[in-house]
Amino acid sequence: MNILVREYTQNDLVEAKIVSDDAHAVLRKFYHPTAQAKKIGSDTPYKRIVAVADNKIVGVATYEVEGDFLYFGSLGVLTAYRKMGIAKKIISHIEEAAQSMGFSKIQCATMEKTGNVSIFEKIGFKKSSREITGKFESVDGEPIVEVYLEKSVETCRVNLGGNKIILRDWIADDLASFEEWQKPCHKWQDFDGPYYTTTEENTLKQINGIRERLKSAAFPAPRTRLVIADKKSNQLLGTVNSYWESIETNWLCAGIALYDHNFWGQGIGYDALNVWINYLFFVHPQIVRLDLRTWSGNYGMIHLAKKLNFKLEAQFRKARIVNGEYYDSLGFGILREEWLNRTVAVENKK
Ligand SMILES: CC(C)(COP(=O)(O)OP(=O)(O)OC[C@H]1O[C@@H](n2cnc3c(N)ncnc32)[C@H](O)[C@@H]1OP(=O)(O)O)[C@@H](O)C(=O)NCCC(=O)NCCS
Repeated sequence: MNILVREYTQNDLVEAKIVSDDAHAVLRKFYHPTAQAKKIGSDTPYKRIVAVADNKIVGVATYEVEGDFLYFGSLGVLTAYRKMGIAKKIISHIEEAAQSMGFSKIQCATMEKTGNVSIFEKIGFKKSSREITGKFESVDGEPIVEVYLEKSVETCRVNLGGNKIILRDWIADDLASFEEWQKPCHKWQDFDGPYYTTTEENTLKQINGIRERLKSAAFPAPRTRLVIADKKSNQLLGTVNSYWESIETNWLCAGIALYDHNFWGQGIGYDALNVWINYLFFVHPQIVRLDLRTWSGNYGMIHLAKKLNFKLEAQFRKARIVNGEYYDSLGFGILREEWLNRTVAVENKK
């Protein structure tokens, strides 16, 4: 049987509900969700996926980011399609999603009484904890034990596809090119924070840091920096990054640099930031806004921020000096709901 796992779309609403209702009908004989359960996850961003076989939806699940792992839930397979490898296929899909986003672990939870623990163990999960839950109440009044299970994801290499580019982790081939672009006198440096001083020592430290990361393959989850690479040649074109303005108040900034100016003005920056911002909003479910910072002489970045629907929120007049002249420091921002609505609007246009 051919099983395809893909992202949920609005057209799946009715069929997915049938699967979900069918899958949960048996469980409801034993327990019901409490108000507490319904609240959990209702305001965090999550993705829904469906498994399709025989031209219909036969399985459903959701997943979301929790700290440094992907948590999945609402897994259900149509009764008539059980024991045919559908759950396994859905979980493989979630593992691949975790890999592509840089997470080395996936986690789920199940009620001990359902007997599902052994099914997950067969698929390679290990029990991580066990607790009495307040999220569900049992029909017989007995306390309900929830078991958390997790599985390590093997090789963890981020690879996020755009139209013209991919955002990916560093590879050894990037180092020579990156090193060359960090040398002084490249045009991109005239625009990317030219008011800051960089020393050769700092650049060397940066390159050694990347080399160490490559050796140990210890990249942070979620990622704070990715390479922008050409989709066809896989060559390094630039990097995107993120940094906290204030982690205490969920205030995150994104940045971008395309090193070769011959590639500017071709929509590459737009493509790369679209993918990066989608990633940042998904892997940081707690953030409600995102910033792009620049200065009034960086026309490219200003246009790009506006094209991405960011609003100019802050303008500090004469706060930057470039070549002896004063420029304004600019702060662009977008709220999560503005970003999501914008994405929907773009999709609807197609
Ligand atoms: C800023 C930067 C990332 C823009 O990337 P890019 O690939 O050239 O941008 P895009 O081609 O996707 O352009 C997006 C929009 O901005 C416009 N634009 C880009 N550069 C422009 C410029 N110098 N002047 C006017 N408009 C410009 C494009 O025409 C496009 O608008 P349109 O679709 O309405 O025509 C790139 O110039 C760069 O890496 N610069 C050096 C590093 C840097 O300054 N980083 C930002 C630090 S704050």
